[in-house]
Amino acid sequence: MTISLSNRNFLKLLDFTPDEIEYLIDLGMRFKKLKHEHIPHAYLAGKNIVLLFEKTSTRTRCSFEVAGHDLGMGVTYLDPASSQMGKKESIADTARVLGRMFDGIEYRGYSQSIVEELAEKSGVVVWNGLTDEFHPTQMIADLMTIEENFEEGHRGLKLVFMGDARNNVANSLMVVCAKLGMHFVACAPEEQMPAAELVETCCKIAAQTGGSVTLESDPTTACTGAHVIYTDIWVSMGEPYELWEQRIKLLSPYQVNEKLFSVAAKNAIFMHCLPAFHDTKTTIGADIADKFGLIEMEVTDEIFEGPRSRVFDEAENRMHSIKAIMYATLVDPDAKDFE
Ligand code: CP
Ligand code: NVA
Repeated sequence: MTISLSNRNFLKLLDFTPDEIEYLIDLGMRFKKLKHEHIPHAYLAGKNIVLLFEKTSTRTRCSFEVAGHDLGMGVTYLDPASSQMGKKESIADTARVLGRMFDGIEYRGYSQSIVEELAEKSGVVVWNGLTDEFHPTQMIADLMTIEENFEEGHRGLKLVFMGDARNNVANSLMVVCAKLGMHFVACAPEEQMPAAELVETCCKIAAQTGGSVTLESDPTTACTGAHVIYTDIWVSMGEPYELWEQRIKLLSPYQVNEKLFSVAAKNAIFMHCLPAFHDTKTTIGADIADKFGLIEMEVTDEIFEGPRSRVFDEAENRMHSIKAIMYATLVDPDAKDFE
């Protein structure tokens, strides 16, 4: 079956079929090979994209910039302080202006409704570079990383998300696992479990793909037999700093550590979208250590730096996967496939 995603927005994975998601993972692998073999691939020369960031970023911004340049495109970056959006100009007006100048718009910010409105009003392709609800580009990189580590492929693998299981990354993992026939476990205290409506949607999807979605509050039970143990920061961008105290109390029992890997599958890997608090070498890390006496948070330094950790492969895969997403959605539908 031929898959074409030309002119499609990339706002959340619920909008895509399993075959379409697998196509993007495979395309990301092909772009990774081209990059590693130093084969030029400026297949989108002449196009221009704009990157709108209302929250900070290292990986997503750099991935869009490098991927855009490698594909031959012009890339404009707008940071939170240097555009009029939201302050002097509405989302709808901004979208209509940018849509006259660019072929694609990346947006990182707050509500999912903003990225949806940009897509609706701009008339060009829009990619979600993270909202409060979802982080879909991260998922293609994560699935590439899983494929690279499990010869048997991703289907049927058990992925456990530990910690703040209501956040954008956890939501997106639940969706992608359900879509791809994987077994997703959200391991968190009651307060930080994913929203019931999204769980219900994902359970219905999983029932059709052979996957499953489970909510489990006991870390040892959750991680038994896990192939992937995944975690993320306990307080996400946009949440108030004051939440740290409460989250530390709630989520400390959900830290990823050696004990959890002792019950996981023999070949289990550790994943994290990054940035991670695994030591005190950041201003927030040092402040938390000072205030609460915690020197590592969602993951121990031992696991982060240890042989099971795949976090830097995962970070590299952001670039290849974002290239795949931009290529697939911007390429002319009649273009010849590349080798
Ligand atoms: N994982 C991720 O999105 O990283 P950044 O916040 O650095 O973009
Ligand atoms: N949940 C995190 C992800 C960062 C990539 C946040 O939103 O801050």
